[in-house]
Amino acid sequence: MKLQLIFLAAAILTLISSGIGIEAGSSEEDYIRPKPRKALSFPWKPKHSSEPQQVHISLAGEKHMRITWITDDTSSPSIVEYGTSHGKYTSSSQGESTSYSYLMYSSGTIHHVVIGPLEDDTVYFYRCGGQDPEFQLKTPPSRFPVTFAVAGDLGQTEWTKTTLDHIGQCKYDLHLIPGDLSYADYQQHLWDSFGALVQPLASARAWMTTEGNHEKEKIFLLKSGFQAYNARWKMPYEESGSSSNLYYSFEVAGVHVIMLGSYTDYDEYSEQYAWLKEDLAKVDRERTPWLLVLLHAPWYNSNWAHQGEGNRMKASMEPLLYAAGVDILLAGHVHAYERSERVYNDILDPCGAVHITIGDGGNREGLAHWYRNPKPQWSIFREASFGHGELKIVNETHAFWSWHRNDDDEPVKSDQVWINSLVGNGCIVGKKHELRKILAVL
Ligand SMILES: *[C@@H]1O[C@H](CO)[C@@H](O)[C@H](O)[C@H]1NC(C)=O
Ligand SMILES: [Fe+2]
Repeated sequence: MKLQLIFLAAAILTLISSGIGIEAGSSEEDYIRPKPRKALSFPWKPKHSSEPQQVHISLAGEKHMRITWITDDTSSPSIVEYGTSHGKYTSSSQGESTSYSYLMYSSGTIHHVVIGPLEDDTVYFYRCGGQDPEFQLKTPPSRFPVTFAVAGDLGQTEWTKTTLDHIGQCKYDLHLIPGDLSYADYQQHLWDSFGALVQPLASARAWMTTEGNHEKEKIFLLKSGFQAYNARWKMPYEESGSSSNLYYSFEVAGVHVIMLGSYTDYDEYSEQYAWLKEDLAKVDRERTPWLLVLLHAPWYNSNWAHQGEGNRMKASMEPLLYAAGVDILLAGHVHAYERSERVYNDILDPCGAVHITIGDGGNREGLAHWYRNPKPQWSIFREASFGHGELKIVNETHAFWSWHRNDDDEPVKSDQVWINSLVGNGCIVGKKHELRKILAVL
C-alpha cells in the first residue's frame, strides 16, 4: 500500500513537471511509435547487507579507474583490493562513500574508490568492500587500435537486454553512453534495478556517461536535478578540471573525448562554455589525433522526434567545436539511428564533424519512426531500429564505424563506414589559426 502511494506520488510529480515544461518533449506527439518491449521485472533477492551491488567502473585520470558499488549497510568499508591474477590482491585503495534521499526513498551506501596506477590493456581481478565476489576488468590500451561500444537511451526493457547481450558479444575497450540511462523517472528503485542489469558489462569495461533529460528528475522547489545520476554515476570531472559531473573529458589511446551536458547552461557566458574552451586549448593532436564529443540532444537530426531541441546549444558551441576540429559527435535522445556527412552550420564541409545519433539502446518509450522529407543533404543513413554502435579507431587517420541493428535479435551490421580523421585529411593544420583566434576571445 505504501509502495503504491509512492508510485502514485511519483506519477503525479512526473505529470506536473512535464506540464510546466521542464522537458521539451512536445514534439513526441507528432509521431507514432511502435510497441515498445516489456519492461524487465526484477525479483527481489535478499542480500547480505554488505554485499557489493551494482558494480560499475569508469576512467579516472591517466592510468586510474574508479570503482563504484552500493551496499545496503552503512558500515561496509570503501575499499577495493586488486591484482593481475585471480584471487591474489597485491594492491588496495581506499575511497569515499555517499548516499542520498529522494522523497521517501533512501539510497544504499554508494562507494567510489579510485584504483591505480594500472597497466594498460591488462586484466585486473578485484573485489569491493573486502568481500567476495571477485570481479574482472580490462584497462584500455595506450595506443591504437581502440574500440568504443556506443549505445544511448538504454532503459531497462527486453530490448535493452538484447542490446546489452550484443555488446557483450563484441570485443571493445570501453563503453560510451550519450545519456538517458535508467529511465527511473523519479522512481528511485529503478536506478537500483538498472545498476543490477548493467553490472555484468559495466563492472568489466569502463562506462563513460553523460546526462540525458531522463537523468534530470527535477522537482519544482524541491529537487534541483541530477541527484541520483551525480551520486551514482560519478565521472572524472574533477580529474579533467570541470566543476560539474555534467560535463568533463578524458583521454584514451590517442583519442580525446569530451562529454558535454545538454541539460545545464551552455551559452557563451556559462561555466560549461568556459570549461570547454579551456579543455579544447589543452588538446594536443600529436598526442590525441582523434577528437570526439558526446552529448544527449542531437544537433543534426532529421527525425520528427525532438526536432530542433539541440539548436540553441548548437548555435552556442558548434563554432568552438568546428574551430577545434572535432572528428565525430555522438548524440542520443532520438530513439533511432542517423549518420551525417561531415557538416558545419548545416552545410557540407570536409572540415566539419560527422554527427551520429544513436539513441536506440532499447528504452520503454519505443522507436521514433517519422523522418522529415526531403532528406537533408547532410543525412547519409537514417533508420528507426534498436541497436548499438562500434567505433574502432585503427590508427591516427582511419576509424571504422558500424551500427548493429537488433534485427530478429541478431546483431546485424546495417551501416558501416570508414571515417578519415581531420588530422589525416589536412583540416587540422588549417584550423590552428582559427582555433587560436576563437580561444583568445573571452
Ligand atoms: C591506417 O589504417 C588504414 C586502414 O587499415 C590503412 O589503410 C592505413 O595505411 C593505415 N595508416 C597508417 C599510417 O598505418
Ligand atoms: Fe532523451
